[in-house]
Amino acid sequence: MGDWLKTDWRKKTRVQMPDYSGSSNLHSVETRLSQYPPLVFAGEARRLKKLLGAASEGNAFLLQGGDCAEAFSQFSADLIRDTFKVLLQMALVLTFGAKVPVIKVGRIAGQFAKPRSSATETVNGVELPSYRGDIINELEFAPAARAPDPEKMLQAYMQSAATLNLIRAFSTGGYADLQKVHSWTLSFAEGEKAERYRRMANSITDTLDFIKAAGVDSKIAPTLETVEFYTSHEGLLLEYEEALTRLDSTSGHWLAGSGHMLWIGDRTRQPDGAHVEFLRGILNPVGIKCGPTMNGDDLKFLIEKLNPDNEPGRLTLITRFGAGNLGDHLPGLIRAVREEGAKVLWVCDPMHGNTIKSSNGYKTRKFDSVLKEVHEFFDVHRSEGSRPGGVHFEMTGQDVTECTGGLHQLSEHHLADRYHTACDPRLNASQSLELAFLISEEISTQRQDEK
Ligand code: PEP
Ligand code: CO
Repeated sequence: MGDWLKTDWRKKTRVQMPDYSGSSNLHSVETRLSQYPPLVFAGEARRLKKLLGAASEGNAFLLQGGDCAEAFSQFSADLIRDTFKVLLQMALVLTFGAKVPVIKVGRIAGQFAKPRSSATETVNGVELPSYRGDIINELEFAPAARAPDPEKMLQAYMQSAATLNLIRAFSTGGYADLQKVHSWTLSFAEGEKAERYRRMANSITDTLDFIKAAGVDSKIAPTLETVEFYTSHEGLLLEYEEALTRLDSTSGHWLAGSGHMLWIGDRTRQPDGAHVEFLRGILNPVGIKCGPTMNGDDLKFLIEKLNPDNEPGRLTLITRFGAGNLGDHLPGLIRAVREEGAKVLWVCDPMHGNTIKSSNGYKTRKFDSVLKEVHEFFDVHRSEGSRPGGVHFEMTGQDVTECTGGLHQLSEHHLADRYHTACDPRLNASQSLELAFLISEEISTQRQDEK
């Protein structure tokens, strides 16, 4: 990217970013941030790209999930641990059930900035800027709270650094030991759907016992006891992203140092906009959210711009059409990719096309719609002869009541009980595991068909 500067996005149209013109401290914050250490290393981003390339060829599956928006007020070791734990459990279900290596990527340690459908919010005749995530302003509906404050970027950086530090410790310090991950899952789910789960749990126990008895465990100990875990977030707040972008001296390319993988949201993918301009120059793997308004030509243009060398693993297409709509939208995009001869990884986000308002006023999602979108995703890829390579979802390890349905049959009346999200409704731990079972079945069916 010899012709690219990390500041070039500033010449393009900026959308979904705050107006910092009233802030005298922006420049000093940017200067400080640009002196802080990057959170990730170029070698890690390259390694993730390689893994995603393998997934695009059917040799791995991407599991990408976490909060819709991380929040300063919900920052604790327990919350990080529980999200990490559920993601590992889901990965175990997929690895064991579908016999496929799983790439684990959190929406975590940087997922703070949010695009909004409206720039302002009006309450009782008072109009204020919309809440855009803790890295920008505050949720409270008051003029001072809603004013964007650059200092918040420093706090988001610190929280991301501490979060990533804990994740790195969990990943290699013994917490992610396969035997432990398995023992946590043993307590999951009583009731009708539990039987198939228990069968899988028993098989895992047998396999682990066998490995031990055969004395193989010490030889493969590092693979059983540690886990590779990567971070990702929407590359939305470009002042923050630019300040953390550094030259990788070994390759001469630019690394977005804020996380391993960045994606462009469905609202910021304008071909000539600031976000595409910024993301085209970084070496990290990047995702593009593809919603119902994207057509084949839009996609071809973005592919050309973001992956001109057709590098495997560089581009992940995250589709989010809403259950019932995939047949209308996905085949056209799959054909566009085929016409381009483009190497991409197809991933399903079954969350963002399925957001509804409950009759009692909560922003929610029906768990059935989430499952239906995943099912349709596999179906359409099957009939188009293309490869479904991953899922992207919003979840938490906590026992929240934000999406209706699932094993415990949460109804609209339960939403008020434990509705904690700062933004979109998330799957709770048991809904997440149930999703993992469905995906595992879909992958197994798909592999059977391929044989
Ligand atoms: C998100 O992933 O939180 C999001 C806002 O998604 P999208 O850009 O697909 O609407
Ligand atoms: Co969201």
